[in-house]
Amino acid sequence: MRAKPGNTIRALAGASLALAAALLATTASAQEPFRIGLIIPLTGGQASTGKQLDNAVNLYMRQNGDTVAGRKIEVLVKDDAANPDNTKRIAQELIVNDKVQLIAGFGITPTALAAAPLATQAKIPEVVMLAGTSVITERSPYIVRTSFTLAQSSTIIGDWAAKNGIKKIATLTTDYAPGHEALQFFKARFTAGGGEVLDEIKVPLHNPDFAPFLQRVKDAKPDAIFVFVPGGQGGNFMRQFSERALDKAGIKVIGPGDVMDDDLMGSMSDTALGTVTAHMYSAAHDSALNKSFVAAYKAAFSSRPGFVAVGGYDGIHLIYEALKKTGGKSDGDALVAAMKGMKWESPRGPISIDPDTRDIVQNIYIRKVEKRDGELYNIEFQTFEAVKDPGKAK
Ligand code: PHB
Repeated sequence: MRAKPGNTIRALAGASLALAAALLATTASAQEPFRIGLIIPLTGGQASTGKQLDNAVNLYMRQNGDTVAGRKIEVLVKDDAANPDNTKRIAQELIVNDKVQLIAGFGITPTALAAAPLATQAKIPEVVMLAGTSVITERSPYIVRTSFTLAQSSTIIGDWAAKNGIKKIATLTTDYAPGHEALQFFKARFTAGGGEVLDEIKVPLHNPDFAPFLQRVKDAKPDAIFVFVPGGQGGNFMRQFSERALDKAGIKVIGPGDVMDDDLMGSMSDTALGTVTAHMYSAAHDSALNKSFVAAYKAAFSSRPGFVAVGGYDGIHLIYEALKKTGGKSDGDALVAAMKGMKWESPRGPISIDPDTRDIVQNIYIRKVEKRDGELYNIEFQTFEAVKDPGKAK
């Protein structure tokens, strides 16, 4: 049926109104900031790691500006004190009240997991900058990780230990998911290579006192102790190791690199010398990009960046690049699609996001603690290139 003239005019007027409204909406969204909820521990036992993440995001934004593809970037920083109940409540508030279009941070596995269902429900990306348990990326199709998995480093140090004259080991791992994975993957490789595990010690996540366990290790007389403690706790561990004189008893420290966080090495004694760990970042990594990153971080915060800072720095880079790829569109599915397969040079070396798992693919380095210009550093001496998460190869 043909529309009467009057109706046609109304229809045209309606169409142009709709067009005007659409134009207005586009302009409004072009001006609307892109809001990121950064949920990190800034109080409690994991506070030093939250600080590194906050510093790194801050530094990246100072270096790269706060506008991407026409969108002003607003970061809302929230302290969850590494308590997953807090994380859940904070993520909900950020999504519902503050209308954030992405959540990021996550200092420990339980907090990354607590936010996963909310990211799925809201269809917004969750960028995991630190937590390292393999399963995390499988808990939501919106999760992308820029840190590491414990399996990446623990398999490599397991092989290395077995091939380098370490026959008897005691293990000390934090009693939660990443600690269990570090132990599981280390032990499988170490025992397959002929090594023997004499004792397996588990310590609590919060306020661990290592001293009584270290006495037990000393009595067992292993060649080395395999240690996983989350970033932030290595300084305390090494102090107690030193006080109990395990080094003098000839016991070496090995593990994934979390115990030798660059952030804490300035406070460690020479007891740390000779510690061999496998990890994805050392502040001593030899590249032009890393040298300028370390110099800029030190100038801004008067401290050395560690592996935690690098996870944060790469996390915000990933967000910036994804937004550029979507032309400033904040749709969660489009952003995650843009992140999949992305490759870039990080201060840690070349990295990429596995398009199938949304997990990080990166070099793992074996390093030994040595002195450079009077300071302790993890000096890389062997590189395993483009390591995927072994925890996903089922
Ligand atoms: C974790 O809780 O997944 C975690 C935290 C800090 C680390 C490693 C793993 O250094």
